[in-house]
Amino acid sequence: MNVNAIIQNQSLKAYNTFGIDVNARYFAEFNKIETLSEVLASATFQQNKQLILGGGSNILFTKNFDGIVLHNLLKGISKVQVSEHDYHVSAAAGEVWHDLVLYAITNNLGGIENLSLIPGYVGASPMQNIGAYGVEIKDIFVSLKAMEVATGLIKTFTKEECAFGYRESFFKRAGKGKYIILEVTFQLSTKHQLNTSYGAIEQELAKMNAEPNIKNISQAVINIRSSKLPNPKELGNAGSFFKNPTITIAHYETLKKQYLDLPGYPINAQNIKTAAGYLIEKCGLKGFRKEDAGVHQMQALVLVNYGKASGHQIFDLSSLVIEKVKENFGIELEREVNII
Ligand code: FAD
Ligand code: EPU
Repeated sequence: MNVNAIIQNQSLKAYNTFGIDVNARYFAEFNKIETLSEVLASATFQQNKQLILGGGSNILFTKNFDGIVLHNLLKGISKVQVSEHDYHVSAAAGEVWHDLVLYAITNNLGGIENLSLIPGYVGASPMQNIGAYGVEIKDIFVSLKAMEVATGLIKTFTKEECAFGYRESFFKRAGKGKYIILEVTFQLSTKHQLNTSYGAIEQELAKMNAEPNIKNISQAVINIRSSKLPNPKELGNAGSFFKNPTITIAHYETLKKQYLDLPGYPINAQNIKTAAGYLIEKCGLKGFRKEDAGVHQMQALVLVNYGKASGHQIFDLSSLVIEKVKENFGIELEREVNII
């Protein structure tokens, strides 16, 4: 690659959905694996801190990035039939996630319709095992290809190797910063078990007067999401800022005496997951705003940038939220968003 293709002092404002105005010391885009290999071999890459960026929808920049940012633009979706009803669909990491959902719907392939309208690129989807409305990508994940940063070698990861958990994977833990995900393969099916059990999907289908099928479920999910999640094009945000916390059943039962409608989703005999958005709202923080950093008015789990907030201001607000929830409920919230 021509070293001139590495830009200096690139603003990242348009590359993160919080709309935080920071600069990257170096910035390069790649739409071919060969280009990526050349960047990896360059002195600029090897001598600096590195960050791989997709759609920037799960990231909070708290300062200028004093290193090199690589923006992934690898494109392409293909499918291979593996049995009468099942297909392996492979998408390059720079494909927009929702475009893959639309591809699946157009090809009558079920499995990811509940994950409609999640922002970001395919390459980041395994990072935190994206999930919504009762489905996570681990449910339909087959394998992924990733380039090892240290060697430039391409490795295939199985589902087990990815160690998926709730908003977790190997790539967010031990593999952090060590691999660049290039392509992800999912198993989708023309004879797919629809999942309408979660949240308001059934009510929304009834409101739409629509039968449950892949296309209608996708539309129902889009309608529900649009009614409560802010559109990053209008209001900077990165979706849920915190994970929903897991607590003991004993702790839950104690809290429930005071908070009769405290949501609870049992995980096993000892533990239950509760809703961080509920806890934040009960702390009186829903709609709270300090300068341009705020807690969203419709969904307290989402922190927003009203315009000119710095990453630091958003981060400080998240610390305040953690402190208040701990004080009121004895629960320590964990940030979901990647803090840079
Ligand atoms: P980025 O923000 O660009 O990157 C996220 C992390 O992944 C960074 O650490 C980055 O370095 C790393 N990364 C990115 N690409 C690669 C790659 N190719 N190889 C290696 N590492 C990489 N998430 C959910 O799970 N469920 C939801 O319902 C949901 N709703 C959302 C709603 C809104 C309005 C918004 C703004 C966000 C929402 N999110 C949700 C979070 C976000 O959309 C997902 O986490 C998404 O997968 C992030 O993709 P991205 O390409 O924007 O990642
Ligand atoms: N709630 C409140 N007040 C709020 C927000 C939520 O009381 O301000 C209550 C709701 O009434 C409901 C419960 O909390 O009883 C759960 O709310 P919701 O269904 O809106 O989902 P969530 O738990 O807040 C999670 C994911 C979302 C995902 C939705 C749908 C996490 C951290 N968040 O949100 O993912 O889209 O479920 O499946 O697990 C993301 O990761 O960025 C994200 C948006």
